[in-house]
Amino acid sequence: MRGISRRGLFVAGAASAAATAVGGSAQASAGSGVEAFHGAHQAGVATVPQAHAVFVAFDLLPDTGTEALTRLLPLLTDDARRLTQGRPALADTEPELAAGPARLTVTFGFGPGLFAAAKKDSPVRPLPAFETDKLDKRWSGGDLLVQICADDSLTVAHALRMIVKDARSFAGVRWTQRGFRSAAGAPGATQRNLMGQLDGTVNPTDLDRAVWIDDGPAWLRGGTTLVLRRIRMNLETWDAADRVAREFTIGRRLDTGAPLTGRAERDEPDFDRLNRLGFPVISEYAHIRRARTADPGSRILRRPYNYDEGVSADGKSDSGLLFASYQADVERQFVPVQRRLAEGDLLNEWVTTIGSAVFAIPPGCTAEGWIGDGLLA
Ligand code: HEM
Repeated sequence: MRGISRRGLFVAGAASAAATAVGGSAQASAGSGVEAFHGAHQAGVATVPQAHAVFVAFDLLPDTGTEALTRLLPLLTDDARRLTQGRPALADTEPELAAGPARLTVTFGFGPGLFAAAKKDSPVRPLPAFETDKLDKRWSGGDLLVQICADDSLTVAHALRMIVKDARSFAGVRWTQRGFRSAAGAPGATQRNLMGQLDGTVNPTDLDRAVWIDDGPAWLRGGTTLVLRRIRMNLETWDAADRVAREFTIGRRLDTGAPLTGRAERDEPDFDRLNRLGFPVISEYAHIRRARTADPGSRILRRPYNYDEGVSADGKSDSGLLFASYQADVERQFVPVQRRLAEGDLLNEWVTTIGSAVFAIPPGCTAEGWIGDGLLA
């Protein structure tokens, strides 16, 4: 270790982390890793998912308009720029907590209310109602989103606290949602959710087509959109289903994640194959059949986190998925999939969407710029 500075290690971490963008399979580093902050796109979307996340949504205070936003967003961008690189925020009261960035990313999203406050046309609107939704205001909506992810939950907590403190004179917290992923698997490997399934196998590979926006208003090009759904799992009744039923529900095996018509996780499902009785091996109502988008370039990018808020006095768990989906176009890519799932998905027996929010994710910024400068400056 002699002769290698801590800073040097961070830089080395940055290089390896940069090589791990989704689609690549390079190794992600542990505590000292650094994700680049500046660039055409914000980090935290294509970034190999970190182990911990918190999503915080703010409501702007009534007098926060364009002028206030042009003070708030540079301030929060500056916090993100420093903290992600392992430097304390300005006026950081716990500067020591900034030293281990652990691949921290801080990603900003703008909800419909922010556009209204800035007197601009909103590129996003709330989703249409789906019959299976049981939405709670407590987990829905929001004017400004900050998504904070890192491999160390202490890093996440510190970044959240700095952001909330600096936003305080402009916006109040509407909700926070915490999530985690398995930190044990190989970096970049598909995670397991709390139902025990490998979750995240089929994702788009061409993010330029599926995720990044390349038309419409100039300020949004290089950005994307985020749909965040809080989906509660009924693990008590799921426990009662046997393995055959569980695998039939998804259309994939629990152990390998292989489609019921294949052997390995990455095998293409054969939706036409029939069993001896003449029924499809992968049910008409299996989750992967209902969720499939024929054109791979129109797939949504799923980057889900598990949530688990403990167990109630009667022994029931409060757990599920923070289903985070990124796509260039919500109406064209996300809504049709969600509609098919709401109309008929075996999984609906055990899962209920209790929160929903939609945000435009502006593009990244330069060292001199700030997130949203194209819209507001
Ligand atoms: C708690 C709720 C959910 C659970 C437990 C769940 C679980 C899974 C699992 C195990 C797979 C198969 C492996 C994979 O490709 O990742 C899968 C695939 C998929 N899911 Fe979900 N999912 C949930 C909700 C949703 C929602 C709300 C959407 C979108 C509106 C969605 C969209 C998809 C898509 C697009 C695929 C890939 C389908 C394909 O093979 O093309 N899922 N999900």
